[in-house]
Amino acid sequence: MEDLSAAEQREPGEADTRGKAHTRGGAETGRESGTDREADARGEADTGREPDTRGGDGTADAVIATRGLTKRYRGGQLAVDGLELTVPAGSVFGFLGPNGSGKTTTIRMLMGLIEPTSGTARVLGRPMPRSSRVVLPHVGALIEGPALYGFLSGRDNLLRYDAADPTADPRTRRTRVSAALDRVGLTAAAGKKARAYSLGMKQRLGLAAALLQPRRLLVLDEPTNGLDPQGMREIRLLIRELASDGTTVFLSSHLLDEIEQVCSHAAVMAQGRLITQGAVRDLAAGARGRLVVTTPDSADAARVLKEQGVADLVITETGVTGEPPDRELADVNAALVAAGVRVRGFGVERASLEDAFVALTGEGFDVAG
Ligand SMILES: Nc1ncnc2c1ncn2[C@@H]1O[C@H](COP(=O)(O)OP(=O)(O)OP(=O)(O)O)[C@@H](O)[C@H]1O
Ligand SMILES: [Mg+2]
Repeated sequence: MEDLSAAEQREPGEADTRGKAHTRGGAETGRESGTDREADARGEADTGREPDTRGGDGTADAVIATRGLTKRYRGGQLAVDGLELTVPAGSVFGFLGPNGSGKTTTIRMLMGLIEPTSGTARVLGRPMPRSSRVVLPHVGALIEGPALYGFLSGRDNLLRYDAADPTADPRTRRTRVSAALDRVGLTAAAGKKARAYSLGMKQRLGLAAALLQPRRLLVLDEPTNGLDPQGMREIRLLIRELASDGTTVFLSSHLLDEIEQVCSHAAVMAQGRLITQGAVRDLAAGARGRLVVTTPDSADAARVLKEQGVADLVITETGVTGEPPDRELADVNAALVAAGVRVRGFGVERASLEDAFVALTGEGFDVAG
């Protein structure tokens, strides 16, 4: 008796029809509820000209643009609330937010998998889900764990994905699949059945599916989820490589430092709302870094720093940190030394995205939505 996963239990016809209707190269799921699958782009497919990115409404060059995008699930949960997102062409765009903040819901709306409650989403200049048919062939997607046939090998899963794409030339299928497996480091495990794959291997296979064709846009929902540190590094490298080829990459993550490492731009979500968006450099610069004093005399240091106007003092294992004051920092340092504090280190740490997030929301990053 085969131990069938949820993916395998899906009607074979459904998988095939969806593959053809959406000509999706990327693996996607988004099928956990069934009731949320209201969007059916097939009936009203827009088969017009090539998608473009000319918005004509101030969002020229935006690869993704949403206006007031809102999703309230049937249970009443407001998962995404009036989202105004602008993803510039050529960016590596980090979609950041703690668990339950609405990232996957947004991505599912962008990919035409669920219908928004209100508002609009344009992808490659075309409205979604109406233009799914023309837009999705240019988009590779990996959404919350790929749908795989466990009884097929990794390679056979990819051959199946490729075969579901009517634009894919069957004569070059094997070469394409081998190249995709190679890109994600799965060549050695390509013959293994997908049900014997680890979480990280499944994630890599999903990514390979999204990379079968050159894409104008890659949408990756938590692409490093389940990967070991080495795997994470490899995927980050791959994302940089793809971006340098001109592909716009939109990736969600709840890992702040991951976004800082790979993304040129980011948007921060909390509880379904957009908190901020822009170039990563500017976002972090908007928050002030902390003054960090390394010293064994932390109690004395804290007293002197307080006198010098340093607020929000925190005594740490290695010294004291606080809000940098408005006065000359060299004077603050001199005051510490004059008071006999043994200063081993003194400086302002560069503000991180996490500082920016905390400054904007007043909360730690690990809040649940
Ligand atoms: N199918 C659904 N039906 C009802 N509510 C849902 C459904 N899917 C998600 N939600 C709710 O919508 C909110 C946003 O969920 P979503 O999956 O979009 O968050 P996320 O940012 O992707 O989280 P994570 O980082 O955990 O993947 C959560 O409160 C969640 O419980
Ligand atoms: Mg998610």
